[in-house]
Amino acid sequence: MDRHQEMTKLKTIKAIAETLNQGNNLEEMLQTVLKELLQVTELQTGWIYLIDPQGNYQLIADIDLPPALSWQAKRPMCEGNCWCIKEYNDNTLNRAFNIIGCKRIDDAIKHQWGKTNEITHHATVPLQAGDERFGLLNVAAPHKSRFTDNELDLLEAVAFQIGTAIKRMKLYHSEQKRAELYQTLGQFSANLNAQRATEENLIHSAVNEIYRAFSWSGIELQCNQLKAAIQPITKKALYTIEKQFQIGETKGKLTISHEQLGPIDDEIIQQLSHHLGILFENTRIESKSREITLIQERNRLARDLHDSVNQLLFSLSLTARGMKDLNDMDKLHSSLSYIQELSQEALQEMRSLIWQLRPTGLENGVISALKSYGDMLKLNVDVELSGVLNLPNSLEECLWRVGQEALNNIQKHANTYTAKIYVQAKKDQVIMTIEDEGIGFDPNTIEKGASIGLSSMRERVELLRGSFQMNTTVGKGTVLSISFPM
Ligand SMILES: Nc1ncnc2c1ncn2[C@@H]1O[C@H](COP(=O)(O)OP(=O)(O)OP(=O)(O)O)[C@@H](O)[C@H]1O
Ligand SMILES: [Mg+2]
Repeated sequence: MDRHQEMTKLKTIKAIAETLNQGNNLEEMLQTVLKELLQVTELQTGWIYLIDPQGNYQLIADIDLPPALSWQAKRPMCEGNCWCIKEYNDNTLNRAFNIIGCKRIDDAIKHQWGKTNEITHHATVPLQAGDERFGLLNVAAPHKSRFTDNELDLLEAVAFQIGTAIKRMKLYHSEQKRAELYQTLGQFSANLNAQRATEENLIHSAVNEIYRAFSWSGIELQCNQLKAAIQPITKKALYTIEKQFQIGETKGKLTISHEQLGPIDDEIIQQLSHHLGILFENTRIESKSREITLIQERNRLARDLHDSVNQLLFSLSLTARGMKDLNDMDKLHSSLSYIQELSQEALQEMRSLIWQLRPTGLENGVISALKSYGDMLKLNVDVELSGVLNLPNSLEECLWRVGQEALNNIQKHANTYTAKIYVQAKKDQVIMTIEDEGIGFDPNTIEKGASIGLSSMRERVELLRGSFQMNTTVGKGTVLSISFPM
């Protein structure tokens, strides 16, 4: 090689290296590089195939193909087999450059697809970086069936640079894909968190959300004896990745199928299944604790029925039995009014218990429910709301149950007929205060275990990460205040 050729070669490599370092659009980049290469080498036409590990090829760049090859939207270039791709796939095209007679051109001549511009042969160079191979670079010129060693050297140097750039770009794209998938995962988990009332609900919404968030063809999720799936609709061969998860008493398996699944998908599916495990376990624990609260509440109602209504009915029946033997009209009269009083009281107790048994009573919101509940207890309750109340169901139910019990206590113990309730809906928290100016009490004298009203209010509030406070002074009254962060 003379000095001039040497310089040209260096300049070419430099220009091509600069192009290869710019941008992240593979197709555009290869097209530009190919053009530069042909200009400097004074060759006429060239094309680049990307070839995947399964041997499938894709024409990604081409310059000035002869009519015989660009015929029908480059059909001869995109279909069928040829010698260079066959040799590449057989792994016989490693470093060396070969002059290969072109089967595509031969076919074009045979079938008279158009002019070949006197092109009969091409040089072919594998694109590789380290052990990884990405495809082929082919170049040709009219009447040229031999390339010199210098030309081949130059082609090899350029092909090596292209291989390295493809590798860099693939890494860049896979990092990009990983970042996007992680973002989707975050969004997915936020969506799902809002939808997990029961495990049955969760498993179906999980599968739907996965389907919506990631574009995989098939999803199957099994967890604690439950199962949900979306079957793939395509008939193509699919890859499958299966990940098991186990957290606490929760055990399950997530299976994803799709046309193409790589190491990044594997990583995301692993994260996803771990995340699902946590969600299911949380849901399981929460429904357990709801069950316990429910049982506690039933026990309390049973005890209340026993304590109040049962006692009242018992004294009613005793009074009525005593009346049978009464002759004195005055005594009879006073017994009858006693009976009336007792039955009135029993009626009142029953009403209050039935109210508590009703699943919600929250059709018109917690403010209106508390007002009516106060009316029912014959308390004069002043309810005030500041701000706009827009609560999740679980929180509204909690305010309602705590309000009920606080009013019950006022009615039963405070020795007053008036109470005040303030609900403040602020930007970052909700506060409810229930006040009475009744007799108050000394919390130290309350026997542990003897009653469950106060402790169940506190438990309810703390279950929803709220705080519970009670201030009471004998002779002055009681203020109960609960708050929740929003
Ligand atoms: N607003 C109040 N005014 C005066 N005393 C109160 C008030 N609230 C609660 N108490 C006192 O605290 C005690 C405990 O209340 P708590 O609600 O836990 O039990 P209870 O009402 O007696 O029974 P239950 O378990 O049915 O609610 C009451 O027995 C009562 O002595
Ligand atoms: Mg009580």
